Amino acid sequence: MAARPRTPKVARTIVALRKALDARPLGSVALVPTMGALHAGHLTLVRQAQKRARRVVVSIFVNPTQFAPHEDFGSYPRTWNADIAALAAEKADLIWAPTPEVMYPQGFATRIEPDGAAKAGLEDKFRPHFFGGVATVVAKLFTQVRPDFAMFGEKDYQQLCVVTQMARDLDLGVKVVGVPTVREKDGLALSSRNAYLAPIERAVAPVLHRSLATCAADLKNGMELPDALARGRAAIERAGFKLDYFELRQAKTLAPVSAHDKGPLRLLVAAAIGKTRLIDNISV
Ligand code: PAJ
Repeated sequence: MAARPRTPKVARTIVALRKALDARPLGSVALVPTMGALHAGHLTLVRQAQKRARRVVVSIFVNPTQFAPHEDFGSYPRTWNADIAALAAEKADLIWAPTPEVMYPQGFATRIEPDGAAKAGLEDKFRPHFFGGVATVVAKLFTQVRPDFAMFGEKDYQQLCVVTQMARDLDLGVKVVGVPTVREKDGLALSSRNAYLAPIERAVAPVLHRSLATCAADLKNGMELPDALARGRAAIERAGFKLDYFELRQAKTLAPVSAHDKGPLRLLVAAAIGKTRLIDNISV
């Protein structure tokens, strides 16, 4: 029988985290921030982290401040035992799983307010609280763990832009690394929220990626931008999604694209089916 992989150490307090990190002070550290409910996308980030650094720290913290009151903080999937088993199999070195009280002790009163890509009129337009919550918790994770590298998925493309900018602006001394989106065979981007989809919703969900790919191809073939976008939007709405946005932006700043822009560009979508809101994006 194969030996069961060694369970990685779990730190739940700042003191325990420091002790675990200081026990082996030499060699680079890569951080993979997550909210748990780990899937193959997260585990790809762990593998990419292992390529960059000697030690890999995975944080698991469902961050309350990035959810609005009407959003799914309470019902967000929590799969602790499966997460630990998956990280043991990947040979992650350390799991940083602070409690809400450790992350936000009583009296906590500081918040980072990102600008630039965080105000692009995409996710921020529909989740105005979101990037302040993300930037604040990620800044805390960076100062707690002090990693050399931090891995973020392109799946959450605006988040990747915001975190990259913040690390630079605040001289946090960490290189933010973007990792391409991991997809199901039918193109649907892996997401913890896919677990919410009813079977018929799951069946139509690949329309998001398909419409992005079709729109990118239409643009390449010379179709006018408004026509290509209209075609993509119509396909998504026809499939039963309520569309939040389907937009072409500059890949670095997420600023709107004008006729003279050559690229790199990014096509981004957010849409809800039933109670589930999904996002996706591709390069153009
Ligand atoms: P979470 O949704 O758990 O995602 C953790 C990381 O996994 C993010 O960088 C996300 O972009 C990446 N990821 C998710 N699905 C992916 C996929 N299909 N392919 C590649 N990477 C994927 O994003 C968050 O948590 C939080 O906002 C966090 C950054 C942890 C701050 O609370």
